[in-house]
Amino acid sequence: MFQIKTDVLVLGSGIAGLTFAIKMARQFPDRQILVLTKTVEGESNTRYAQGGVAAVWDDEKDNFEKHVADTLDAGDGLCKEDIVRIVVEEGPERVREIIEWGARFDKEKGSNEYDLAREGGHSEHRILHYKDLTGWEMQRTLMESAAKLPNIKVLEHYFALDLITQHHLGRMVIRVTPDIECYGCYALNKQNGEIDTILARATVLCTGGGGQVYRSTTNPVIATGDGVAMTYRAKGRVENMEFMQFHPTSLYNPAGENPSFLVSEAVRGHGGILKTAEGEEFMQHYDPRLSLAPRDIVARAIDSEMKKRGTDCMYLDCRHLDKEDFVAHFPTIYEKCVSIGIDPMQQMIPVVPACHYMCGGIMVDEFGRSSIHRLYAAGECSSTGLHGANRLASNSLLEAMVFAHRIFLDLKDKLTDWDFQENVPDWNAEGTTDPKEMVLITQSMKELKDIMSYYVGIVRSNVRLQRALDRLFLLYRETEDLYKTTSISPQLMELRNLITIAYLITRSATHRHESRGLHFTTDYPEQLPFIEHSVL
Ligand code: FAD
Ligand code: SIN
Repeated sequence: MFQIKTDVLVLGSGIAGLTFAIKMARQFPDRQILVLTKTVEGESNTRYAQGGVAAVWDDEKDNFEKHVADTLDAGDGLCKEDIVRIVVEEGPERVREIIEWGARFDKEKGSNEYDLAREGGHSEHRILHYKDLTGWEMQRTLMESAAKLPNIKVLEHYFALDLITQHHLGRMVIRVTPDIECYGCYALNKQNGEIDTILARATVLCTGGGGQVYRSTTNPVIATGDGVAMTYRAKGRVENMEFMQFHPTSLYNPAGENPSFLVSEAVRGHGGILKTAEGEEFMQHYDPRLSLAPRDIVARAIDSEMKKRGTDCMYLDCRHLDKEDFVAHFPTIYEKCVSIGIDPMQQMIPVVPACHYMCGGIMVDEFGRSSIHRLYAAGECSSTGLHGANRLASNSLLEAMVFAHRIFLDLKDKLTDWDFQENVPDWNAEGTTDPKEMVLITQSMKELKDIMSYYVGIVRSNVRLQRALDRLFLLYRETEDLYKTTSISPQLMELRNLITIAYLITRSATHRHESRGLHFTTDYPEQLPFIEHSVL
């Protein structure tokens, strides 16, 4: 058991964590920035982003008002307009910055102008991208930039378990305690099994989303909502968790794979058309924007057509598109399809909705400050108010960069005011023994994903939500018993965190007596006349 001290502790090495760490480290070369990441530095949701990053770039055709209007429209009345304006207006500067750090975005053939793509819900072409590997390119750039800064230390295979607050000093802390403070975290060093105490002046959560709570998701296996669950356990505020975004088009692979492979919305922006197995278009029955309607609408349309027809998937038709152009834009998607026996130029691509993005999360203000002092959050684990009830495509990489910058602005003048808390005890592992049956954890994980997929999916109802809550309660009790008696493993912690995420989604969904954005319930198909955020 070690005690480690660092000026700033960053949990997560995706776009939010590394962008923030680089800014802080550059400004304060004599301060230590420690980044913990639970597997390897390059593994994150960021790495898999395909479509790109949305930003107003072509001032002749596009402007801030149009990007703001598209974001508000997708968010279905629940976005915070001041936050939308901040992200849209500061976004291009952040994109320019990452370009300066070395990120490449595709340019139009024979020109120096960026090749701007279009995705669902966008009224203009404004998505900067690097083929269908935008996230990989951004992750690469950030890792290379961070590696050049000696005061950033990245510890791989370090799993953050719990945030340290006054609770660990023996003081009673409840959700309405006004002055909860974060002093760092306990983290499992996966390489030696020890649990270290990491003390920091400030902690920044950048732990990403929680898509693994569903059976079918585009999110990699690291996406288990750890930061949100840790914050909730530490009695911080979490909001809008019912708005889990299902991407309309993950590749339907009968062999089954985790994660599901994404077929980017940019393919529809490029001319791909959603069709039935018989080759008929169906989106005209749902929205005048057809295949490029916002995600909540397209995902629900596909779900409804699949249920009506009793089929396992619908189709994306790209056969009319130019092969050379398609392969140049979407090399990874083309290769993946071919690898499962589908040639997109000859056959329609089978697609199915899959959980993709967590719109809610840790409630933060316009500088990424959470309800716990000295604790910030950025990226997918946070809820800034940008996405409302449904995120507009390609707005999340943008949001992560804008808020990483804003946290840096807020923190840079405060850091020296906050001392280390010296009285934090070591992790207490008394009374625990090594797990005898790992199968208890793996089986509970399967049950959890089934519960969420059957009862808290794209279409919900009171009866389904209540069933989910009853079953989740049982899983919660069993897992807490296991936690109290078993030594810590990443698998057990991820199960525990995902049960919390499932509970937060289901509880928030139960409270929302209306259908809005990504939350659709057959019991309340209309919208309420007033706007309510679900804060837990
Ligand atoms: P992540 O990039 O997910 O990073 C999370 C980090 O936290 C990881 O390093 C992880 O190891 C670490 N971590 C988590 N828990 C712990 C723990 N307990 N202890 C230590 N470390 C921990 N958005 C767009 O804007 N445009 C797109 O084109 C786009 N395409 C996408 C395609 C796919 C397939 C997916 C899955 C998402 C896509 N998104 C896209 C969404 C976007 O990629 C993510 O929202 C964004 O990258 C999240 O960044 P982040 O920094 O918040 O988290
Ligand atoms: C995609 O490429 O379709 C994903 C874009 C996003 O999630 O913003």
